Amino acid sequence: MAYRILRKFAVLKDNTRFYSSGLKKCTLIPGDGIGPEISAAVQKIFETAKVPIEWESVDVNPVRGPDGKFGIPQAAIDSVNRNKVGLKGPLMTPVGKGHRSLNLALRKEFNLYANVRPCRSLEGYKTLYDDVDVITIRENTEGEYSGIEHEIVDGVVQSIKLITEEASTRVAEFAFKYAIENGRKKVTAVHKANIMRMSDGLFLRCCREAAEKFPQVKFEEKYLDTVCLNMVQDPGKYDVLVMPNLYGDILSDMCAGLVGGLGLTPSGNIGLNGALFESVHGTAPDIAGQDKANPTALLLSAVMMLRYMGLNDKALQIETACFDTIKEAKYLTGDLGGKAKCSEFTNEICKRIEASNK
Ligand code: IPM
Ligand code: MG
Repeated sequence: MAYRILRKFAVLKDNTRFYSSGLKKCTLIPGDGIGPEISAAVQKIFETAKVPIEWESVDVNPVRGPDGKFGIPQAAIDSVNRNKVGLKGPLMTPVGKGHRSLNLALRKEFNLYANVRPCRSLEGYKTLYDDVDVITIRENTEGEYSGIEHEIVDGVVQSIKLITEEASTRVAEFAFKYAIENGRKKVTAVHKANIMRMSDGLFLRCCREAAEKFPQVKFEEKYLDTVCLNMVQDPGKYDVLVMPNLYGDILSDMCAGLVGGLGLTPSGNIGLNGALFESVHGTAPDIAGQDKANPTALLLSAVMMLRYMGLNDKALQIETACFDTIKEAKYLTGDLGGKAKCSEFTNEICKRIEASNK
C-alpha cells in the first residue's frame, strides 16, 4: 500500500505542487450563482474522503488592466500557474456586451487546448438510452471561438474561424493518446470539410496524420450533421470524438442531454502545463443560495481531476458514493425529479463514503 501511494505521488511530482505535509494544493474557483454552494458540497465530500489536497480558493471577478480591458486578476493566474491544477464552478458570461467570457479567458490564459467531456448513462437514472458512453474531445483555443470579429461596412460583420495545424495536431494526438490510455477503441473526427474545405480540411488532415501515428486505434471521419443524427438514434455507434471548438461545444451538450443533462456531466480542460476541471452548466441565478442545486457535475469534474492527479482510489470511492446515491434515488435534487436539497444529497454521499472508509 505504502509503495502504491508513493508511486502515485511520484507521478504527480513533475506536474504539481507539494508540501512537506503531503498535501497537494489545488486552485478552487467557486464561481457565480450556485457556484459557491456546489463548491462547498465538493469540499465537504473531499474532506470526508480524506483526499490529500488543500484548496486555494481564488476570486476571478474581472479587473480592469492598464490597457483598460477587463481580465482575470493576477492572483488567480498566479495560483493556477503555481498549482497547475484547479477546479472551477460556473462563471457568468455577459451576452453580446461587457467583458469576454472568463470561462474562455481561463482556457486561453493557460493554453488548455483539449476539452474532455465524458458522457455515460447513469445506472438508475432513466433516459432514452441506457448505454451511452461517449467522450467528446473539443479543440479549446481557437476555431469559431478565436474572438476575431469586425464590421466591414454598416450591416456586414465578419467573424474569423481560425484553424491552425499546431492546435489541430495537438488535440488530434491528444484524442488518440486518451483513447489508448483509457482502453477506448475508436476515434471519430467530426467535421464539415465538405463546406469549410480549407479550415475543416486542415483539421481533418491533422486528424488523419495523427491516426497514422496510432494505428492501434480505429479511426473514422464523419460529418457533424451525420454525427448528430446518429447520436440521437444510436449513440452506441460512437466512442471518442474529436472536433473543432464550436462543434464540440454543441455536440457535448447534446451528448449530455442523452444522459440527463449538464447537471450530471463532468468536463476537463487539459493543457501542457496544467489542467482546469469545471462543471459546464450555468450559474442558475434563479435557484442560487437556496440549497437546491445539484453538485454532481462539479463533483464528477473533481473526480476527473483526482484521476488526472493519479489519486485513482479516492476518485473511485467518491464516484461510487455519488453514483450509488443517484441510483438509490432517495435523495435526488429537483433537476433529477427529486425533492432533496443540495446539502441532503451531499450528506448522503458523505455517509456512503464514511461507510466505505471503515
Ligand atoms: C461550455 C460553455 C462555454 C462555451 C460558455 C459558458 C462560454 O458553453 O463550456 O461549453 O461556450 O464554451
Ligand atoms: Mg457549451
